[in-house]
Amino acid sequence: MASISSLSQSSQAAAASFSPGCRRLRSRRSTPAAQVFCSAERQALFSRIAPVYDDLNDLLSLGLHRVWKRMAVSWSGAKKGDRVLDLCCGSGDLAFLLSERVGPEGEVTGLDFSSKQLLIASSRQNLSGKACHRNITWVEGDALNLSFPACYFDAITIGYGLRNLVDKRKAMEEMFRVLKPGARISVLDFNKSTSAFTTIFQEYMIDNVVVPVAGSYGLSEDYAYLKSSIQEFLTGQELEELARGAGFSDAQHYEISGGLMGNLVATR
Ligand SMILES: C[S@@+](CC[C@H](N)C(=O)[O-])C[C@H]1O[C@@H](n2cnc3c(N)ncnc32)[C@H](O)[C@@H]1O
Repeated sequence: MASISSLSQSSQAAAASFSPGCRRLRSRRSTPAAQVFCSAERQALFSRIAPVYDDLNDLLSLGLHRVWKRMAVSWSGAKKGDRVLDLCCGSGDLAFLLSERVGPEGEVTGLDFSSKQLLIASSRQNLSGKACHRNITWVEGDALNLSFPACYFDAITIGYGLRNLVDKRKAMEEMFRVLKPGARISVLDFNKSTSAFTTIFQEYMIDNVVVPVAGSYGLSEDYAYLKSSIQEFLTGQELEELARGAGFSDAQHYEISGGLMGNLVATR
């Protein structure tokens, strides 16, 4: 039976500790594109969407998110017997892929601050017929304050997580700290493109496909947050600079699917 480990601080306390991130907090009923959420609100959002998150990912990406996640795991360099971390694991897609890659001799930790997302990940693990999936441990915790020792992991993935963190520099420093020298992080997310055409197309798709489809699940406001979060995110070049600033010796950002998605690969 899979279980979820709670770290010393509860997820509520973890989220509440980000009060500086609430500076620009506005009402959830304000203009959706203008919304900026503090960590506690983001936690509530991901718990709210948890029951339909996987279905919407398949629907909105036409299944392509599975391919992007396989690419991210491959870029992480994880191999048989490794001890790896999937940050902001949500319902566990990347953690399950990592689990197959590192095999039964390896160890996977999936960390998220939404207990609802972790419950879904844990029940997927219980329903899985694959023996290797037993190598996954789910941890309720804060990506900005990791309770792991320095130089602990052989690889780290984070899928659609960094954009949602209130302090991206701190997140990068934490990943650097817990990663072994020579090991890699693989950061998959929406790409904040420098091409006007790609940005217009991305925003058109969010406004005219993503938000209306999410609306049919009663979640249009929650998904409208996507557009502002990409606008406030970092370009590929800025992500590379962030990684180098945190100490990574090498950082490369790759655009995927015509620049709609991006993946940063950085080596400690
Ligand atoms: C968009 S989901 C991505 C889930 C999964 N990685 C995937 O690709 O399907 C972002 C996840 O980040 C988590 N998250 C956001 N901020 C966090 C934080 N400070 N610490 C831990 N998890 C966080 C949310 O709870 C949510 O599950």
